[in-house]
Amino acid sequence: MAPFIATTSAPVNIACIKYWGKRDTKLILPTNSSLSVTLDQDHLRSTTTSRADPSFKEDRLWLNGVEENIKSGGRMATCISEMKRMRKELVEDVDASAPKLSTFSVHIASYNNFPTAAGLASSASGFAALTASLAALYALPSPPTTLSLIARQGSGSACRSLLGGFVAWNAGELASGLDSNAVQVAPESHWPDIHALICVVSDTKKGTSSTSGMQRTVETSALLQHRIKHCVPQRMADISAAILARDFDRFAEITMADSNQFHAVCLDTAPPIFYMNDVSRAIIAVIEEYNRVALLPENGGKRKAAYTYDAGPNAVIYAPAANIKEIISLIIHYFPQQDAFKDPFGLFGTAGVGSG
Ligand code: PMV
Repeated sequence: MAPFIATTSAPVNIACIKYWGKRDTKLILPTNSSLSVTLDQDHLRSTTTSRADPSFKEDRLWLNGVEENIKSGGRMATCISEMKRMRKELVEDVDASAPKLSTFSVHIASYNNFPTAAGLASSASGFAALTASLAALYALPSPPTTLSLIARQGSGSACRSLLGGFVAWNAGELASGLDSNAVQVAPESHWPDIHALICVVSDTKKGTSSTSGMQRTVETSALLQHRIKHCVPQRMADISAAILARDFDRFAEITMADSNQFHAVCLDTAPPIFYMNDVSRAIIAVIEEYNRVALLPENGGKRKAAYTYDAGPNAVIYAPAANIKEIISLIIHYFPQQDAFKDPFGLFGTAGVGSG
């Protein structure tokens, strides 16, 4: 019998409208919709191999070569059992000759080629790669938007990494979560000119996990409620329109406003959460000044770069390809010391928008 094995990889995605807060912690249903760009970069991917075999005694997982415990009832266990359920319902119940893979245990090995848990969305690419690799192993006929319902239950932001280009995660309204899925707003080919410059300020593990940080914010921040009701819905509509119109100036304005509001919400949490550090804030100052000059009428009156920060100090700078060289020289000029960036793959990584 040929071995039942499949390997797939998935890239990270970096949100322009941030997901922060859960309304259901078990199903991972968010308090607001979000929108991200999937990065197509060899440096920032998770690659996962899954194997099903009747001789395996239990489901097992290795992350970067080290075996991790699969906690019963935990997120990993949920994703695996949901995928087995789909295999049974969509393949084995339909075709009696299909091997009963849903009854076998699986062994899963996943590798990240970038620092895990450093605010570089490793859980997003990790759970997306896991879901995609089990979908391939089980030969599921399901489209990425359907698979996103499973990846979401591993790590919320993972649902967006199953699609390429510009991707929205609809918060949805149903208690079942069946409408809380990821959809493509535009493919990479629609706007390939946008690049992401990743400035790794620190690759150490972050202090407050997104799970505990979100919970604290939901419990204590009044600003979060304002953000959910009065800011995010309009921003989702406006940034989608900016993407469809390839309007970088508007895209940048909304992206930076949303990153700043996300970090303000973290500061409004009790006790407060600080994800950015002095270097992160100095990068903001450099980009703000760069844009101030670009916005002068004699310089064209449009923004040339947008920063955004997730749950960590590392900057992601979105910019049209033509500006990337100038931005790199600016950053090097203002941060000449070699140890300002602890970068495992050179000073910067740049990436085009990816196909997922
Ligand atoms: O999916 P999580 O639990 O890793 O949360 C991700 C949260 C942010 O990265 C800060 C925002 C986002 O939308 O990706």
